Amino acid sequence: MKLPNPPQVIRSVKDYQVLFKTFQHKKIGFVPTMGALHEGHLELARNSLLENDVTICSIFVNPTQFNNSEDLAKYPMPFAEDLKQLTLTGVDYLFYPDYQELYPDQFSYKIEEKEISKKFCGAYRPGHFDGVLTVVMKLLNIIRPQRVYMGEKDFQQLRLIQGMAEAFFMNIEIIGIPTVRDHSGLALSSRNTRLSQQGLQKARVFAKILKQDQSLEKIERDLKEENIAIEYLNEFENRKLAAVYIEGVRLIDNVEIHHK
Ligand code: PAF
Repeated sequence: MKLPNPPQVIRSVKDYQVLFKTFQHKKIGFVPTMGALHEGHLELARNSLLENDVTICSIFVNPTQFNNSEDLAKYPMPFAEDLKQLTLTGVDYLFYPDYQELYPDQFSYKIEEKEISKKFCGAYRPGHFDGVLTVVMKLLNIIRPQRVYMGEKDFQQLRLIQGMAEAFFMNIEIIGIPTVRDHSGLALSSRNTRLSQQGLQKARVFAKILKQDQSLEKIERDLKEENIAIEYLNEFENRKLAAVYIEGVRLIDNVEIHHK
């Protein structure tokens, strides 16, 4: 089968600025990613393709949001496969900068949120959301989209980026897209690829237990019974949020609470 045309790859801010001038009044939809793309990312791109004239994805493994250098070193970077997936999905452009291009200031400037970013994931990954917010601010200032598509799987991240867009009057719509799950209910994540078959089974059990209409106490007990190490388990905006470790891999998930 002949593949459709691959997205045009743009590596520098200058090249993007030249391209941007050609967009004129076109609506730009943007999907920021760190690569290792799966159906969850492609679903974001599909939503953007439906609602905008131009869809741009970015791939940048952002070192400033990794508080653990081992985690960064292990982050998968299957660029050729990613490009193929973006091609099959029909994405128009891929912004693929290197560190120097995005951080000419060497991370001397940063965006910090003082409340929500200190809880849940932020409490266990100091500085993580400073890195996320800073890189997303940079990307949005470069790409200048009307709409941004982000997964609800990173619910805390989604709310922080929506809050940042509002706080800085950015006039950009940040759209949350429901988590894509496998047949068993496990949330898709690039980190799943680091699990053995046994680990994957355990991750599926984690997703199942979290989804139960039960109190946090009961969920905690059930996870412990399955020997799943909990980092945190909390409620936030009518959702149960959790981070756990399975085979040394940190997995997060969240589900809506259905009040009886
Ligand atoms: O969710 C992610 O993949 C990253 O945190 C993001 C938003 C691309 C920023 O690096």
